[in-house]
Amino acid sequence: MDIKENIEKIREDFPILKREMCNHPLIYLDNCATTLKPKTMIDAVVHYYTYLGANAHRGDYEMSAQVDYAYEQARKITQEFIHAKRVEEIVFTSGTTESLNVLAMTITDQWLNDGDVVLSTVAEHASNVLPWMEAGKPKNIKVEYIPLDEKGRLTAENFEKAITDQVKVVSIAQVTNVLGYEAPIKEITKIAHDHGIKVVVDGAQSVAHLPVDVQDLDVDFFCFSGHKMCAPTGIGVLYGKFELLEALTPAFFGGESNARFNKCGKVSLKKTPLKYESGTQPIEGALGLAAAMKYINHLGKENIHRYELELKRYFLEKIKDVEKVKVYNADAQSGIITFNVYDNGKIIFPQDVASFLNTKGIAIRSGEHCAKLLGEVLQVPGTCRASVYFYNTFEDIDKFVEALKEASFETCLDIFF
Ligand SMILES: Cc1ncc(COP(=O)(O)O)c(C=O)c1O
Repeated sequence: MDIKENIEKIREDFPILKREMCNHPLIYLDNCATTLKPKTMIDAVVHYYTYLGANAHRGDYEMSAQVDYAYEQARKITQEFIHAKRVEEIVFTSGTTESLNVLAMTITDQWLNDGDVVLSTVAEHASNVLPWMEAGKPKNIKVEYIPLDEKGRLTAENFEKAITDQVKVVSIAQVTNVLGYEAPIKEITKIAHDHGIKVVVDGAQSVAHLPVDVQDLDVDFFCFSGHKMCAPTGIGVLYGKFELLEALTPAFFGGESNARFNKCGKVSLKKTPLKYESGTQPIEGALGLAAAMKYINHLGKENIHRYELELKRYFLEKIKDVEKVKVYNADAQSGIITFNVYDNGKIIFPQDVASFLNTKGIAIRSGEHCAKLLGEVLQVPGTCRASVYFYNTFEDIDKFVEALKEASFETCLDIFF
């Protein structure tokens, strides 16, 4: 679908776009944090609570069978969405953070030994570093950081140079959440596998924007969150190659994941993926995720990505003569724009800029964006981040640029007095 031509119709699908913020029409440019939700997705969640209601995989009655069918269909749609080989390779979790924690706990406990190393980068979200750090402590497993290039990008060359005999896992984002650079995942995976290294990919900022084919990338694990792709909060995905999910023992145990157990502690687990879904699953989340995926498929991910880049190029063109706005990632091929505003050569505190934009109805993110190690590379205390999605318009960008032109110490601090 041509997004530019159909933008009014697309925006009609998002009821929240009719709301105002600070008495201005809402301009939502915080899509990296979470995306807005289309009516079809909201309807899918309401439908579950209104007409289905039962738990999954537990009842022997019609309602329950209908839930089982809908839930497993959602798994199938997710499999197709990332082109996984088998439907069993899709585990539903609460989000990227849980998926990465589960992997860090299980892989560290079951596959790593004293002195082994997990490679990551300083551009990663905390959710892709802290789980490895914490899981590794009892076994003396360190997280080491692949040096980024001068722009803050991860290259296959730097990854290869960082490999030692101790490296057993590399855990990296496909698209980073501050600078928005896409990592060469396919190349990195090939190098990693040649060295017997497992590849974990954080897809939180990529899967909603780029076509993702886990078989083509050949990654071992791929994690993402529903809420960053038009689905509800509280649902996410852990994709793993079937034989790897089969080989690992899960981190959590409970009613859904066991086939039987006895008083002596003998436990038989269900088959993958149910052995990983230990309690009542986020059922409405899975149904909402399926509806969101259908919505995104109907727009087409190539179209979404192309449109986001058009919006970003339009912004860069309009801002290029506004010297006080410094953009850090003009060349990143994503809809993420990371910048600071200066006044007389001094940075205006990013939160003050965000608060000023709020008074104009514009939502952006400011601060360190949960990637606290990246400050070393950017050498600034924080940044402002605007991130576009397919429902943003060129008029949104016009208003955003006009507002940035007005930003100064005086206007940004004025709002607090
Ligand atoms: C790159 C990246 N990884 C992980 C996360 C964590 O996602 P969630 O909070 O949905 O678990 C985020 C959230 O912003 C992110 O941008």
